[in-house]
Amino acid sequence: LLISKEPHFKRFEILRSALYPYFSIDYKNNSFLKDGKPFQYISGSIHYSRIPRYYWKDRLVKMYMTGLNAIQVYVPWNFHEAAQGVYNFTGDRDLEYFLNLANQTGLLVILRPGPYICAEWEMGGLPAWLLQKPNIILRSADTDYLEAVNSWLAVLLPKIKPWLYINGGNIITVQVENEYGSYYACDYNYMRHLRTMFRFFLGEDVVLFTTDGNTDKEMTCGTLDGLYATVDFGADNNISDAFKRQRRFEPRGPLVNSEFYTGWLDHWGDQHAVVDAQKVSRVLGEMLTMGANVNMYMFEGGTNFGYWNGADHDTRFHSVVTSYDYDAPLSEAGDPTEKLLAIRDVIKQVQLIGQPKVVS
Ligand SMILES: *[C@@H]1O[C@H](CO)[C@@H](O)[C@H](O)[C@H]1NC(C)=O
Ligand SMILES: *[C@@H]1O[C@H](CO)[C@@H](O)[C@H](O)[C@H]1NC(C)=O
Ligand SMILES: *[C@@H]1O[C@H](CO)[C@@H](O)[C@H](O)[C@H]1NC(C)=O
Ligand SMILES: *[C@@H]1O[C@H](CO)[C@@H](O)[C@H](O)[C@H]1NC(C)=O
Repeated sequence: LLISKEPHFKRFEILRSALYPYFSIDYKNNSFLKDGKPFQYISGSIHYSRIPRYYWKDRLVKMYMTGLNAIQVYVPWNFHEAAQGVYNFTGDRDLEYFLNLANQTGLLVILRPGPYICAEWEMGGLPAWLLQKPNIILRSADTDYLEAVNSWLAVLLPKIKPWLYINGGNIITVQVENEYGSYYACDYNYMRHLRTMFRFFLGEDVVLFTTDGNTDKEMTCGTLDGLYATVDFGADNNISDAFKRQRRFEPRGPLVNSEFYTGWLDHWGDQHAVVDAQKVSRVLGEMLTMGANVNMYMFEGGTNFGYWNGADHDTRFHSVVTSYDYDAPLSEAGDPTEKLLAIRDVIKQVQLIGQPKVVS
């Protein structure tokens, strides 16, 4: 039979993208597709929970002026539901106001609503009250845990839905969980449950993805059918090896480094971490030139106010310090650094796929 379903589908896609805002994955051409055209993002992480609301606009404009076309943002559950069933989305916790500022600034958003976010944030964003159930198994298909997750997602995701790009907002993609492959549980039922919930509240059309560390074990436990698999790695990694690993899990589609480390965090007692500006900008340029989509983690680190600093636990308990400066391109105080200028120079030279050259 000569009539295949595909041209029909293609015609529908073209029609759909001409009529409505549209964002999807082009598996044939190994890229994202925005309003029918190939699209490449260059993004930076910024956490509204680490910056007073008064400075949000200032930081976003500086990111835009560096040449970024997107930001990547975590939503910390415990910041919004500090007591069970009591929600706060006002003042410094006004997520929609932040999304609106980003939209007005001309920045797309890659949203990471967890429910676990890590982020060196208190308990990785999970509320402490979850531990009132002594046998709860966090980040698994444990019924007590899922019940709390369901209640939270039923509040958060309907707020997010109108902000999806396909619904007239600026959120192009949404991450499910966070580096789940690094967690011991490796519980696919949990990830399947999250996929169902995200689809239920956000619809079938939004691009959902996962992010994992660049090892086979992490990619195996953190990825799931229907969630686009992306990797994260820093300037010391071999780019082609790292993307080869993503290709093993996603043979087609855009290359994505969801966390390209511009610096690093500080634990109590450590020397302040620094990552060389020239190295960061050079490796960034190499990834962008090969057409990869890159999010710089962090672009603006900010501050762990109050007791919101998290801790890492490997051989001992490592508490993160109050500053989350991260040696990022924008300093903790929001000032442009040498690193920002080096990155801006690289972005100016790279012609991103599907976009006019940035003039700054
Ligand atoms: C495929 O992507 C390239 C850029 O990488 C673009 O120039 C080309 O037009 C795209 N082709 C289609 C059919 O979208
Ligand atoms: C909600 O959070 C904001 C910002 O931190 C704070 O100013 C306000 O007091 C909180 N509201 C309630 C009811 O706790
Ligand atoms: C986002 O900004 C665009 C362009 O300024 C505007 O058309 C759109 O209505 C805004 N979306 C929302 C949800 O505010
Ligand atoms: C990355 O690794 C490949 C082998 O997998 C090697 O051919 C290439 O030279 C390496 N690149 C760098 C910059 O070291």
